[in-house]
Amino acid sequence: MPGLAIIGAQFGDEGKGKIVDFLAEDADAIVRFNGGNNAGHTVKIGEKEFKQHLLPSGVFHRGKVNLIASNVVINPKVMISEIESLRKNGVTLNPKNLRVDLRAHLIMPWHILQEGGGNSAKIGTTQRGIGPCYEDKAARTGIRFEDLLSSASLTDKIKAQYERKVKALTGMGIRLPMDFSFASVLSEYLAYSRVLKGFAADVSMELNEINAQKKNILYEGAQGVFLDNNFGTYPYVTSSNCISASAAVSCGVAPSFITKSEGVVKAYTTRVGNGIFPTEIEGELGGEIRMMGKEFGTTTGRARRIGWLDLPMLRTSIMLNGFSGMHLTKMDVLGGLKEIKVATHYQSKGKTLTHFPADTNSRNNLTPVYKTFKGFEAQNWKKVANAGKKIKLKALPKEALAFLKFVEKELDVPFVSVSVGPERNEIIFLR
Ligand code: GDP
Ligand code: IMO
Ligand code: MG
Repeated sequence: MPGLAIIGAQFGDEGKGKIVDFLAEDADAIVRFNGGNNAGHTVKIGEKEFKQHLLPSGVFHRGKVNLIASNVVINPKVMISEIESLRKNGVTLNPKNLRVDLRAHLIMPWHILQEGGGNSAKIGTTQRGIGPCYEDKAARTGIRFEDLLSSASLTDKIKAQYERKVKALTGMGIRLPMDFSFASVLSEYLAYSRVLKGFAADVSMELNEINAQKKNILYEGAQGVFLDNNFGTYPYVTSSNCISASAAVSCGVAPSFITKSEGVVKAYTTRVGNGIFPTEIEGELGGEIRMMGKEFGTTTGRARRIGWLDLPMLRTSIMLNGFSGMHLTKMDVLGGLKEIKVATHYQSKGKTLTHFPADTNSRNNLTPVYKTFKGFEAQNWKKVANAGKKIKLKALPKEALAFLKFVEKELDVPFVSVSVGPERNEIIFLR
């Protein structure tokens, strides 16, 4: 492996959690490198379903090091509650197996309130304070994980921000909650610091040491390529970078450490929140796929918008990330449909486009051109997986195989795995 980045190739929720959990078995360290608790990564082990927003999806394997890198924004309350809920499920996390970079920024109560104003409703953000926290980071006024190490420093930092934030929020017409006094914010964060300070570390240095020992590192991305702050459908994006190159920037390792990058691709496309969606399916069929795929946001519970697989988007994803392989997920969900479509290219003002256009104007004038495949019967994959046998590729109905082979050939990148259910063992591994 030595350094493998796992990246969402579409608009997020491709099934990164499941794939990272699966691949973590071969990794020594798993590091989450962007976003915050806007993410929701699901791992299903038997009957138990874990929805994690902040902690790496490698935590379910014993003896691994779980790390959170510098460009992740940390809501301390969420971090504590995830650790606690895992503990109740028999997963013990402590500074021996979980560490957070000292440089990671903290989400403060004002970030969440701030998000109630501004353009977050237009974008359809998760309202978790992610954008405002990254704004303060860029403005060089943020509070960092290292500030949890010293009560005096934390007090000074909160003092320096509090009045300014109250003024700004009141100016925006935002009503402050009852427990928003300086004393209560300070005592809340001092309490978090007592629980979390032991987790602080120089994650960059650690990753460099792990790499020097020739151990395997799995870099876990959050969100997806088209939510990337530079390369996504701006302004309908998140506030961090999601592509493979950003793993090096956030983790403080040389780009050459990340020897491989693989994309997680849902067999169709979904999007939560607003913004362009060229292959979106209007009408009943979208609703049907949403129900079959249980496409409701892991973080906010919102209904995900549904569309067909979009090859121009994936070509752009491959180009931006250098994917050497892809993990196809939710193939089972397409079972039972009469026909399945794939957008092979776009028509735009008389031109044929093979990639996703960079400019907003061209994006607003896209007509996807589809190839239609015959559908296949729904299969009982759970039964196959629970029989204890490894699912083989040839178990896929021939129509599903035709779809898969076509996509692989068009994109010129092989599938590494095909996932046919939410559970760990509902996967066909092709390597
Ligand atoms: P992530 O954000 O990329 O980790 O994805 P989410 O966890 O937000 O959403 C993916 C959803 O699909 C979760 O509920 C997973 O349990 C589920 N899932 C993952 N792979 C498969 C699959 O192959 N088939 C089905 N039916 N569900 C899957
Ligand atoms: P995972 O890691 C899907 C979307 C929001 C909104 C936009 C900006 O589970 O794939 P933000 O709160 O980040 O400022 O919202 O990005 N979004 C996601 N959509 N999956 C995610 O994460 C997302 N994280 C953010 O819905 O459109
Ligand atoms: Mg998700």
